[in-house]
Amino acid sequence: MVIIRTLPEMRAASIVVKRGHRRVALVPTMGALHEGHVALMRRARDGGAAVVVSVYVNPTQFGPHEDFKQYPRDLEADARLCEREGVAAVFAPSDDEMYPGGLQSSVFVEENALARRLEGERRPGHFRGVCTVVAKLFNIVQPDSALFGQKDYQQLKIVQRMVRDLRFPVEIIPVPTVREADGVALSSRNQRLSDAERAQAPVLWKALGITRDLFNQGERNAHQLEAAMSHAVALAPSARLDYAQIADAETLEPVNDAQSGNVALIAAHVGETRLIDNLIL
Ligand code: PAF
Repeated sequence: MVIIRTLPEMRAASIVVKRGHRRVALVPTMGALHEGHVALMRRARDGGAAVVVSVYVNPTQFGPHEDFKQYPRDLEADARLCEREGVAAVFAPSDDEMYPGGLQSSVFVEENALARRLEGERRPGHFRGVCTVVAKLFNIVQPDSALFGQKDYQQLKIVQRMVRDLRFPVEIIPVPTVREADGVALSSRNQRLSDAERAQAPVLWKALGITRDLFNQGERNAHQLEAAMSHAVALAPSARLDYAQIADAETLEPVNDAQSGNVALIAAHVGETRLIDNLIL
């Protein structure tokens, strides 16, 4: 496995792979890799693709009061895990490599429909940063496919839109969320929970489970389903609900009458850490 730090080296490596008639699969990450990322890597390897894992904590997707500085970084540990998983290359570029014109550079990529809601509403500029960096990664790595976890459901849908609208020749492969035994969705941010907070983190998955059970029992009023999520979160003293929404799974528009195939999305702070999760009804 190689660790690549520059754009020309990354492009050259992709060209070599493609000349050998192998596909290149990209797993974009911000590092602090965990079993959720491992699931992406394993799925990426299916069919014999050469897997590139990008490790880059992208400054432009963090708001001024968000955890960019505290975001966990350990490239050595990440590289060891990638090697163990049969990854061909880790692409770990610098800010200069990714933003040659500086972080305020004049060209950004913005999705203007799905990005307005939910995370986008609470984290202005977040998806602009995500789309911009993912577009850059696609240009640099030139992957045939790219894998995204369903935990970040809105991100996945926005990236799919970007690929559709900007005509990127990249197949987006969604991968199911990996969970701890108690239902907590794996996330690099879980590392920041204290033991007491970690004990309350399953509340998001419990709230989604309650909504699913109500839906399966025949409840179709989306506001009732959302209220049930909100009540469930209120029972955990360290948790503070940010949103609980039943939405159309493609447009992310809120619905009044829930239907099979809608998505339930939830975000809550547990202590200082903001967690998100979702479930398709
Ligand atoms: O999901 C993430 O880790 C990031 O948003 C991504 C897709 C790597 C872009 O920085």
